Amino acid sequence: MKVLDAEFVQGFMRMADDGWNQGWHERNGGNLSYRMKAEDVDAVKEELCPGEWKPIGTSVPDLAGEYFLVTGSGKYFRNVIIKPEDSFCIIEVDEKGENYRICWGLVNGGRPTSELPSHLMNHEVKKRVSGGKHRVIYHAHPANTIALTFVLPLTDEAFTRELWEMATECPVVFPDGIGVVPWMVPGGREIAVETSKLMEKYDVAIWAHHGMFCSGEDFDLTFGLMHTVEKSAEILVKVLSMTQNKRQTITPDMFRDLAKDFHVSLPEKFLFEK
Ligand code: 13P
Ligand code: ZN
Repeated sequence: MKVLDAEFVQGFMRMADDGWNQGWHERNGGNLSYRMKAEDVDAVKEELCPGEWKPIGTSVPDLAGEYFLVTGSGKYFRNVIIKPEDSFCIIEVDEKGENYRICWGLVNGGRPTSELPSHLMNHEVKKRVSGGKHRVIYHAHPANTIALTFVLPLTDEAFTRELWEMATECPVVFPDGIGVVPWMVPGGREIAVETSKLMEKYDVAIWAHHGMFCSGEDFDLTFGLMHTVEKSAEILVKVLSMTQNKRQTITPDMFRDLAKDFHVSLPEKFLFEK
């Protein structure tokens, strides 16, 4: 089968385009990766043509031999559906988890996203903690979430609780909460290590003054998670623009009631009295 006809590739392209349409991907902002299933690799194997091994910039031994669909560095989400072969690629990770090689795509040259260390370290953690279910890592630059990193304390507790309060669905969609990485230089191993530590506990990590990472089982769930967090951030930005004091809100006991009926467990550390 042609790579571009495969269902997982169609899903990847649609998600990238949905992110573009949300306004989360100015210029080359953001990046997306998908850990391919054995049957995905099998379906497109006649089109795979491995290039040179190159260093990942970190070590991901538990991803040895895996294949990923990943956006290219400097490539625009806007162009993913317009010129897919130029915008993303399929890579294979070597037997040590230290090098990758491009097997398809990026036909005009280039390399996978500069955030490849973060993507692969997050995939490695999520593959382990989800029992292999999580396959998608998504990084975007949604404006409201970024705006909040200038006014809220940069703690998991503050972001989780404030964003839970802004929409009743939030604690059901991300019951484990949200992690926050303080400002760091992007694109390297250090920020990847900090982000992947948060991915042990959470499916969402916010990078102060930069953007957000989400992890999920498939394209819909991962996009929906980013969308839910950003919508909640938008509501909080609107509320804070009107007043510093909410007249009423969702209280810790209301969250406890919600948890019971919706069969989610909400960590008590986020249900503090204010
Ligand atoms: P890339 O173009 O290398 O993917 O970088 C975009 C980005 O958002 C960096 O954090
Ligand atoms: Zn970014």
